[in-house]
Amino acid sequence: MSQPFRDSGSGSVQWCAACGAEWPELAPEPQCASCGGLLEIRHAMPTDASGVPSTGAELQRAFAGHCCARPIGHPSGVWRFQSIVMPSAGDAIVSWPEGNTALLQRRAIAAYVGVEAVHVKHEGMNPTGSFKDRGMTVGTTQAVRVGASAVACASTGNTSAALAAYAAQAGLPALVFVPAGQVALGKLTQTLAYGARTLLVRGDFDDCLRLVQDAARELGIYLLNSINPWRLEGQKTIVFELLQQLGWDAPEWIVLPAGNLGNTAAFGKALREAHALGLIARVPRLASVQAAGAAPFAASFADAFRTRTRVQAETLATAIRIGDPASHDRAVEAIRFSDGVVLSVSDAEILAAKRVIDAAGVGCEPASAASVAGARALVRDGRIRAGDRVVCVLTGHVLKDPGILVRMHQDAAFPEAPPNSPIEIDADVGAVAQVLARDAAMRRAPDAAS
Ligand code: F0G
Repeated sequence: MSQPFRDSGSGSVQWCAACGAEWPELAPEPQCASCGGLLEIRHAMPTDASGVPSTGAELQRAFAGHCCARPIGHPSGVWRFQSIVMPSAGDAIVSWPEGNTALLQRRAIAAYVGVEAVHVKHEGMNPTGSFKDRGMTVGTTQAVRVGASAVACASTGNTSAALAAYAAQAGLPALVFVPAGQVALGKLTQTLAYGARTLLVRGDFDDCLRLVQDAARELGIYLLNSINPWRLEGQKTIVFELLQQLGWDAPEWIVLPAGNLGNTAAFGKALREAHALGLIARVPRLASVQAAGAAPFAASFADAFRTRTRVQAETLATAIRIGDPASHDRAVEAIRFSDGVVLSVSDAEILAAKRVIDAAGVGCEPASAASVAGARALVRDGRIRAGDRVVCVLTGHVLKDPGILVRMHQDAAFPEAPPNSPIEIDADVGAVAQVLARDAAMRRAPDAAS
């Protein structure tokens, strides 16, 4: 396993995990220029003004001080951690600002999971409604630093929405490749609104990713998928921030949905660094949760990672409908380092968890609910124990996928759960009273009234 920080030298480098080559911080290739392997950013240890490495307690104080207050602070929950994200960004930073998302506790969600101490970290509260903004603020900043003329990504929808917004802010042309007919409406309309050139590719996400890599290489466009190591530097801050919100008292488990495995990889890197820096005394276990119809990583885990599995993906959680995850190798390292687990949950379990999250007034898109469904499954099979503290990450906002809500509540497409259909009425109070009386009867005798 690689060292989390550089042994010697100042500044940051891009290090190839496959062949060990080291590239300068501003090298524009998103993958190793000699072997094509995935790159990892290695920073120098943060130090005080006289060059002495900072202790964990000093860094904790610095991060608290960087929260909001200018001139040393930044209103972003990503750039607050700049010294371990992109120390030399200077004035190139492209920020909305993003991050600073809530860590919530809701009794109904904890009861559903089956342990008392459940927090949900709601990344849907980011400016474009998903955690992708944290990666994109850093990725777009790097695009500006390397002088990119245009940026591109393949996406199941959220990455493209974030890319479109940040590229617009940076004044860079953006090109997004999404699988035709497989992107939730909220996400597609965001890319159009923010002005990205949107290509509906006849194929799935895995086809889009292959295509955008070829296009980026041949046409000289800067690639901003999570293959790009700077994206992961931004996404690491989900973990730093939730640990800070918990007073640096690490939970036993962090549970997250997994698709292309960028986030799993970023979480593993964050934990490695947080531990090496003395920010936390103990490493939480990661649980990566895939949809059963798109679970190549869970299959590899079941085989002790001896093989890398690829599948033809199918799930109604379109954000994680991915069969050949690009960050497989990095994610293996993350699971191994944190003594983590990988599991899959069915679409029915995802929707059941989503109903609970939505009805608690929190809300999330389907893929996000995989974390809560996964935590519940881990409690049921005894891997999460009654006294464990669990953080479930909700990755995207409820309004990202209005289509699924219409199907759940109006089309009765999922008859196993009661829909909450809107009721059309005449414009008079009597009609309102009738609805209220019917609802009251239903609450008294749920099965009788319908
Ligand atoms: N949750 C949501 C809402 C997502 O949009 C994604 C990925 C994931 C979870 C999985 O994260 O890929 O890092 O394992 N969405 C990507 C996209 C693929 O294009 O928006 P991952």
